[in-house]
Amino acid sequence: MSLFKDMLKGDESLFRNEMALDFEFLPKLLPYRETEQRHLATCIEPLLQGRNGRNLFIYGASGIGKTAAMKYVFRDLEEETDDVIPIYVNCWQKNTTFKILLEICDQLGYKLTHNKRTEELFEVVKQIVNKKSAVFAFDEIDKVEDYGFLYSLTEEIFKKSIFMITNHKDWITELDQRIKSRLMPDMLEFRKYNLAETKSILKDRGDHAFIPGCWDDNAFDVVSVRAFELEDVRPGMHLMRESGMAAESKSSKKIMIDHVKEAFSKLEEFTIKPKAALDDDTQTVLQLVKDNSGSKIGDLFKLYQQQGGVAVYKTFQRKIRKLSDGKFLTINTIKGGAEGTTSIIKYHTTKKLTDF
Ligand SMILES: Nc1ncnc2c1ncn2[C@@H]1O[C@H](COP(=O)(O)OP(=O)(O)OP(=O)(O)O)[C@@H](O)[C@H]1O
Ligand SMILES: [Mg+2]
Repeated sequence: MSLFKDMLKGDESLFRNEMALDFEFLPKLLPYRETEQRHLATCIEPLLQGRNGRNLFIYGASGIGKTAAMKYVFRDLEEETDDVIPIYVNCWQKNTTFKILLEICDQLGYKLTHNKRTEELFEVVKQIVNKKSAVFAFDEIDKVEDYGFLYSLTEEIFKKSIFMITNHKDWITELDQRIKSRLMPDMLEFRKYNLAETKSILKDRGDHAFIPGCWDDNAFDVVSVRAFELEDVRPGMHLMRESGMAAESKSSKKIMIDHVKEAFSKLEEFTIKPKAALDDDTQTVLQLVKDNSGSKIGDLFKLYQQQGGVAVYKTFQRKIRKLSDGKFLTINTIKGGAEGTTSIIKYHTTKKLTDF
C-alpha cells in the first residue's frame, strides 16, 4: 500500500498561487470601490498641495473592502509622493494611545522608544510629521480604549488627514463632543456587494489562485451565492481554498459540488466554537440580550447592573459591539428620539456562517 500513490503530483496541483486567497492579499485592482477610493483620495488631495487635509469616517459591514480600499489608496500615494507619510494602524492590535504612538514611531523609523512616556512619544511624532504631512488611518477604531491620541493629533499636527474605519456607524455618534468637533469628518459608507459583484470578485481571485478551468461552474456558483448571502467576501475565499483542497485530496482534477459541500461542513464546524469561546461576562450579556431582544442599550445596562454585572458602561458597550462583530446580535442606532441618540439591540436568531 502506498499512502501517497493516488495523490496529485506537485505539477498537477489545482493551485497555482494559493496566496491570492489570503485575506491580506491586495489585488491589483479593487473593482466596485472606485467611488470610495476616489473619496479617500479627495480627502488627501489638499496635502499634496501643501494644505491641511480632510478627515473621514468610513463605516460598513465586515469583509467588503474597507481595509483593502484604504491600503490600495496608500499604495498609490506612496508611488506618487514622499511628502505625505501614510500611517496605517490596526486598533484591534494597538488599542491604547500609548501603543498607537509606539506603532506610529515605529512606522516613522524612530527606534529609541524604550522607556519613553506617552507625551514624549507624541513629541517625537510631532517633530517628524510636522516637517511634512501625514495621513493616519485608524482601522477598527471602535476597539480603542482611550482617545488621547486623536485629541493630540487634531490639535498639534498641522497638515494631516485622519481616517477612521469601523463596522459601527454609531461609534462616531458616541464620540466625545470635544474630539468630534475638532475632527469634523466626512462620512463614507461602504455598501454591501450584490450577487454579480461578489461573484466577479471571487472569480478574479480564483483566476489568480487556481489553474485555468479547474472549477466546475455550478460548484463555483454555490460558493459565490453563499458568500453573497453572508454579505462577506472572506468566507467565499475560504470556501474556495477548502474546496480546492478537498478536490486535491480526492485526486480530482476538477472542483465539483461535492468538494464544495465538504468545505461547507468544515465551515459549519467553525461556527460552533465562538459562542463557547466568549468569556463568562460576555455570555451573560448575550443571554440578557436574548431575553430582552429589541431593548435600548441603556435599559440593558441597567438590567445587567441589577443582575450584579460589574463592568462599567463603556466596557458593556464594547461587549455589545464585540457580540455584534460575531453576528450574535445587531445594533440599530436611532438618532434624535425623545432621549437623543440611542441604540436598539436585537438578538440574532439565525447564526451566520461567518462566525469563524
Ligand atoms: N472589490 C474588491 N475586489 C477584490 N477583492 C476585494 C474587494 N472587496 C473586498 N475584497 C477582498 O475581500 C477581503 C475582505 O476585505 P477587507 O479586508 O477590505 O474587508 P473590511 O471591509 O475591511 O472588513 P472588516 O470590517 O471585517 O475589517 C479582502 O481579502 C479583500 O481583498
Ligand atoms: Mg478591515
